[in-house]
Amino acid sequence: MRGLKELWQIFEERFPDTGLRKGAFAAPGRVNLIGEHTDYNDGFVLPMAIDKNITMLAQLRDDQEVRAYSLDYGREVIFSLLDLEFEKEDFWANYIKGVIDEIKKMDYYIQGMNLIFTGDIPIGSGLSSSAALEVVTAYTIASLNDLDIQPVEMALLCQRAENNFVGVNCGIMDQYISRLGKEGNALLIDCRSNEYELVRFSLEDYQVVICNSRVERGLVDSEYNQRREECEKASRYFAERLDHRVLALRDVTVEELEKEGGGLEEITYRRARHVITENNRVLMAVSALRKNDLETFGKLMTESHYSLRDDYEVSCPELDLLVELALKQKGVLGARMTGAGFGGCTVNLVHKDYIDDFIANVKKAYDQETGKDMEIYVTWPAAGARELA
Ligand code: GLA
Repeated sequence: MRGLKELWQIFEERFPDTGLRKGAFAAPGRVNLIGEHTDYNDGFVLPMAIDKNITMLAQLRDDQEVRAYSLDYGREVIFSLLDLEFEKEDFWANYIKGVIDEIKKMDYYIQGMNLIFTGDIPIGSGLSSSAALEVVTAYTIASLNDLDIQPVEMALLCQRAENNFVGVNCGIMDQYISRLGKEGNALLIDCRSNEYELVRFSLEDYQVVICNSRVERGLVDSEYNQRREECEKASRYFAERLDHRVLALRDVTVEELEKEGGGLEEITYRRARHVITENNRVLMAVSALRKNDLETFGKLMTESHYSLRDDYEVSCPELDLLVELALKQKGVLGARMTGAGFGGCTVNLVHKDYIDDFIANVKKAYDQETGKDMEIYVTWPAAGARELA
């Protein structure tokens, strides 16, 4: 990664100084420790920010133009704040435009700007590089234009940008953790109330290891939407049968599922079972973390994977292989796929003394079996969006 000084040099070579406000900002990617496909069911998630970011440098202009330069793609896109069009070929610019569109809908006045951005979050691998781009854009605009947008409000507006402008029907988790992540902590997010609690994640002897399968998440959009529909169907079913309010699968217990779920189609039953048991696992994982019981935490991670593989069916052979290989290594407490699924990454809890062996063994076996060149990142709970000094 280039340092900030070098980035400002690049910025100044590209854009003349407007004399107006400028600044540098960053927003991280994330890894979800547990709580998968629960956010859009009003449930619980436990992600943490990772030490991989998108960095954006920007200066206001005295007109309505935006000049955005992606260093990594070597491409500049120019547009007016007054004319925000979705352009398929400039896919990254759509995230920036989407955020601007949502800020404008909130009736804020903003000025044009020159900006450059660059990142080290691997793209398309389930570590939320798009959420990071949305969040860093919103953070930059809010800071330079003095907009008072509260953190959760900012996460929500970035989610709306993705839903409305980019057209991906994601939940709130990725934008939320990218905006609100705190160093040394995972975040327990209640995706119904949109409140959160910091959960101290003092790893001491263990580290979070991310394995990138290098499988592009192919089917993800269509399958994702289908899972959402299946969950809504299950939720409507329980709303008709239970004698309390059911707005989402969050409101159904395992006992109710077992007692009343017999009338669901088998596949819908399994989808519901994943979501309901996963919500429980998140809460159990949080209480394990609070007791510093990483063993229980790790077991819950692995159970989560099996549930995603068998009940929710969003894993793929490569992710299953990575989990299987991980669990054969010494010093591993838990392993699971992370993010939407169908490719992307797994997250593993590995003892420090065994990390080198883990990396060597898993990579060798995986690459041999799949012919891919996988990547492994060792990370820790990093900071959320921030201004860079
Ligand atoms: C994607 C979405 C999130 C969440 C996860 C699955 O990352 O963007 O909102 O639904 O999948 O847990």
